[in-house]
Amino acid sequence: MYNSKIIGMGKYVPENVVTNEDLTSIMDTSHEWIVERTGIEERRHIKKGDGNTTATMGVKAAKIAIERAKIDKNDIDLILFATLSPDYYFPGSGVIVQHQLDIPSCPAMDIRNQCSGFIYALSTADQFIKTGMYKNILIIGSENHSGGLDMSTRGRGVSVIFGDGAGAVAVSRSDDDKGLLSTHLHSEGQFAEELALIGPSTNRWVPEILEANDSEDISYYPNMNGQLVFKNAVVRFSEVIMEGLQHNQLTPDQIDMLIPHQANLRISQFIQRKFGLSDDQVYNNIMRYGNTTAGSIPIALTEAWEEDKIKSGDLVVLAAFGSGFTWGSALIRW
Ligand SMILES: CC(C)(COP(=O)(O)OP(=O)(O)OC[C@H]1O[C@@H](n2cnc3c(N)ncnc32)[C@H](O)[C@@H]1OP(=O)(O)O)[C@@H](O)C(=O)NCCC(=O)NCCS
Repeated sequence: MYNSKIIGMGKYVPENVVTNEDLTSIMDTSHEWIVERTGIEERRHIKKGDGNTTATMGVKAAKIAIERAKIDKNDIDLILFATLSPDYYFPGSGVIVQHQLDIPSCPAMDIRNQCSGFIYALSTADQFIKTGMYKNILIIGSENHSGGLDMSTRGRGVSVIFGDGAGAVAVSRSDDDKGLLSTHLHSEGQFAEELALIGPSTNRWVPEILEANDSEDISYYPNMNGQLVFKNAVVRFSEVIMEGLQHNQLTPDQIDMLIPHQANLRISQFIQRKFGLSDDQVYNNIMRYGNTTAGSIPIALTEAWEEDKIKSGDLVVLAAFGSGFTWGSALIRW
């Protein structure tokens, strides 16, 4: 059986910086409230006309990952695209990447697992590599949240948290014992509507929304039960990290770098304390980007690597929790 290894990483975030102070001019909020509850100081938002879409941001991140991986784009056997904000309702954004990267008829698959999307994609890539079916897989996590958020006071509990951006990794077959040790995935669909975009959807088609002509209807904005999400997140993050460690007969003190999905700095700090990790063993960049959902782990992984915080031989743990609810972890011997 083959091993899979991350051999290149890249990220792209829009240039347009939106600070907490900027938000105070369009909604009733404050820098202090946002920082105290989430740790977020600023995020990036696509600007109308800047040419960025979920797919094009993914392409920009992917080009960097491919270059760093030192592989030819035509050697990519599969594109996995994790997002909750695809360019179109259908088809998925992966095929747009295939076209824009100009990789003839490369299969492309979208993964719809929100904040856990990157871990689900990594696990999927690992299986394709382990079976021998594919050798080089491009994974992208990308989100365009900003255009679909309620940027009025009514939506402040959700809209201050999310930002736009993309991260990408190239995963390849490896012959040595380094690389992905294991991945662990879970979901609990009873909580589907606790963090969801209800409509437009096949549950509530656009003509139905238009016909209802209900000015109170805000089902086309994301809905989040923040406290329920928070309570479940801290439990599930801890469980799924522990599950990964135990599966590999490892203990928390052997973690060199934990890269949690950047949901909320308070959640990351809770996990850090729970596992007794120091500040330099947990990578956080939510302060600068907010929650970029499927983009968050590959963006953070790229930055941690660029800042030389991950070394050969390190035990790197990735973990995520989010809408679905879904959650998962990945353990990597770097
Ligand atoms: C969203 C979150 C920051 C809200 O914090 P909270 O302590 O739960 O706050 P509440 O929702 O109870 O709101 C408290 C008050 O602040 C207000 N408020 C909400 N958003 C606000 C904002 N951006 N600015 C100022 N006030 C705000 C609320 O209206 C409420 O006011 P009230 O007491 O007058 O009704 C927190 O629940 C959270 O982080 N949850 C997890 C979210 C997450 O990680 N999501 C991504 C999952 S992948």
